[in-house]
Amino acid sequence: MRRARAFPLLLLVTQLLGCTSNHAALNPAGPRAQAIANLLLLFCAVSTVVYLIVIAFLVWTLYRRGPREGVEGTARRDQKSWRIITAGVALTIVVLITLAVADFAVQRRLSAHPADALRIVLTGHQYWWEVEYDDANPSQRLRTANEIHIPVDRPVEFVLTSRDVIHSFWLPSLMGKKDLIPGYTNTEVVIAARPGTFTGQCAEFCGLQHAQMRLTLTADKPQDFERWRQQQLGEAAMPADDTARRGQQVFMSSTCILCHTIQGTPAGATVGPDLTHLASRGTIAAGTLPNTPANLASWILEPQRLKPGAMMPATALPPQDLAALTTYLGSLQ
Ligand code: CUA
Repeated sequence: MRRARAFPLLLLVTQLLGCTSNHAALNPAGPRAQAIANLLLLFCAVSTVVYLIVIAFLVWTLYRRGPREGVEGTARRDQKSWRIITAGVALTIVVLITLAVADFAVQRRLSAHPADALRIVLTGHQYWWEVEYDDANPSQRLRTANEIHIPVDRPVEFVLTSRDVIHSFWLPSLMGKKDLIPGYTNTEVVIAARPGTFTGQCAEFCGLQHAQMRLTLTADKPQDFERWRQQQLGEAAMPADDTARRGQQVFMSSTCILCHTIQGTPAGATVGPDLTHLASRGTIAAGTLPNTPANLASWILEPQRLKPGAMMPATALPPQDLAALTTYLGSLQ
């Protein structure tokens, strides 16, 4: 009965700790993340055992009987102390070497880069992620932002760099942290073994909105990934009605065009996220807000209220123009 009551409690605790979410190093979703989680558990287990041994010795020294009187008693005590110290030093060396070897083995495994990997160039910006799928054929390259899709069971090599300051790429369920450094490229291979959407976070303080620099990685079945890729490769949808057409004109004649790209239109700036398929993304402002017309309108009008310090400037628009613009952006599937 008690056990039956304890189980939901345990479940609650693990849920609270986030160990079962898709944002947890202890819930690995791929072989590489599994290797890191195993290493973490090994270190925790060894540290726990060492801690318990140290505490046991502490208690033992506090409560053991005092030394016997006389020269013989002292000599025997010294001999015993030396034996304990020697055993302690030997055990410490063995433990440290074991952990170092285990760590080295995992590092070696993580540094292996498969030749058939899909290459994604990930560029950090204050405060969003530019995602570019590399391909030998330029017509097959595609750009998006903040929401990455990859196929399951295929190694993906992320080439990491930054446009401004140092950021850090971190998907707890899939990989350890890796820095994005201006003028330098790092690489990190990720393999997702099961479909799902995994959340990530910039893990290096990069300014005011560091905490609002989120990203998602969706691992798709190969055919779903290919469908997504083909859809993203296409140019932006043409405005389907007068409102959307008006919205496109507003976009092209306001400051939006100075920072954003919409493929198939004159907008080709790369300061902010590519908006060609904005409506296919679940959030705006790097995971800050759900992608709804109302949030888009607020974001265009007063980005500094929603994300103070973000590089997006406010754009004052008459209500009708704003409504037309959000209709147009909402049509960019
Ligand atoms: Cu980018 Cu913190």
